[in-house]
Amino acid sequence: MLTDLLQKIDDRTATIGIVGLGYVGLPLALRFAEVGYKIIGFDIDPDKVGQLMAGQSYIEHISPPSIERLLASGFEATTDYARATDADALILCVPTPLDKHREPDLSYVLNTTDALVPYLRPGQLLSLESTTYPGTTDEALLPRVQSRGLEVGKDFFLVYSPEREDPGNTKFTTQTIPKVCGGVTPSCLKVGVALYSGVIDRVVPVSSTRAAELTKLLENIHRAVNIGLVNEMKIVADKMDIDIYEVIRAAATKPFGFVPYYPGPGLGGHCIPIDPFYLTWKAREYGVNTRFIELAGEVNSAMPDFVIGKVVGALNNRRKSLNGSRILVLGLAYKKNVDDMRESPSVVLMERMENLGATIAYSDPHIPVFPQLRDHRHFDLTSVELTPENIAGFDCVLIATDHDRFNYDLIKQHAQLIVDSRGRYLDPADHIVRS
Ligand SMILES: NC(=O)c1ccc[n+]([C@@H]2O[C@H](COP(=O)([O-])OP(=O)(O)OC[C@H]3O[C@@H](n4cnc5c(N)ncnc54)[C@H](O)[C@@H]3O)[C@@H](O)[C@H]2O)c1
Repeated sequence: MLTDLLQKIDDRTATIGIVGLGYVGLPLALRFAEVGYKIIGFDIDPDKVGQLMAGQSYIEHISPPSIERLLASGFEATTDYARATDADALILCVPTPLDKHREPDLSYVLNTTDALVPYLRPGQLLSLESTTYPGTTDEALLPRVQSRGLEVGKDFFLVYSPEREDPGNTKFTTQTIPKVCGGVTPSCLKVGVALYSGVIDRVVPVSSTRAAELTKLLENIHRAVNIGLVNEMKIVADKMDIDIYEVIRAAATKPFGFVPYYPGPGLGGHCIPIDPFYLTWKAREYGVNTRFIELAGEVNSAMPDFVIGKVVGALNNRRKSLNGSRILVLGLAYKKNVDDMRESPSVVLMERMENLGATIAYSDPHIPVFPQLRDHRHFDLTSVELTPENIAGFDCVLIATDHDRFNYDLIKQHAQLIVDSRGRYLDPADHIVRS
């Protein structure tokens, strides 16, 4: 079994099944297809499957021509799990969010695995890529695979290999981002490393699936904690009337031992605000409190109110109240130059300011229409075009996400008041307030 599978991976006759065709799964499918593997893409969303089969893309940075090339390589998208039998390797890229109590919601991973189990067969590799707590692969996936009578390490291979993506970062591609991989057994690891080495320049093997799971969490917790630290530094610097961005720029000239992180209006995205709490939850089983994570979460989740306080103060200085003011929020996406709104602090800012009586509008060249969101109020809005008249018509322009496509000179020239939560404007001006 092992030799056959390694041979198919090596000569690229293996069929790769990618389960969950979102921000992680779709680029991965493109990369495997690029080097010559046949791909079957699985998703529960028939709309996505239909779009892909029609050569369309639902992710801004993936172009329709790349989907056309994928189709030309023999790619098929399907909602039918029975097709899993045809795959030699199955890679799970499904969501791992938090539930309403901010505890891990593994339902997507577990439901997907349960749906796949009847179609698993000897000679396959299953790789979980979704971010999760240490123990998920061997506590939740392994028994499910074994329930099918498969012997892991002998006739079936199971690994955990976390995805690393930095949407909007053009310096790295799926191929050039090193990939960590841990196997349930040494043979599992061997197959996992062989699979990923075919498409990724550097694969980093670790001794277990748990080590791989914790590696991913360490990376994201490192970011969450450091962003919490710099957000706290921003509040201190603001009280002391020091420009935090000048300080960060100066500190970043140190050639060793300092990594710059930047403050903002709060954490966003599907990873950094969520993943650390996977560890918090699991650590409780071991009687450990993850205090850095909790504290960073507390600081980071207080940032929208800090920003709103700055808007209120700036309006007050102009004898206006937030109640009744027209506020234009720039940037809905959680980070610049992307169209992803998951956990975006911009939406929290909009909701809270509207609750306080403001009239809210937004502008985001990546998100022309405010979409339906699962956990937030719906704003029936479309993106405001940034003309001089439109900009001047608002009591305050709040920079929540500093997309490069905004014309910052035009905004500076025509806005009555700018509250800048991203440090975009370097030079002080009477009508610009840092937040
Ligand atoms: N997006 C990133 O930059 C990134 C980076 C690193 C890790 N991750 C992790 O990767 C995982 C996936 O994230 P994503 O951003 O791709 O999510 P996503 O929401 O963009 O995509 C997930 C896809 O899975 C599909 N899906 C849900 N349940 C399914 C099921 N039962 N069967 C088949 N398909 C199903 C959804 O329809 C969706 O298309 C998460 O664990 C996330 O934390 C994401």
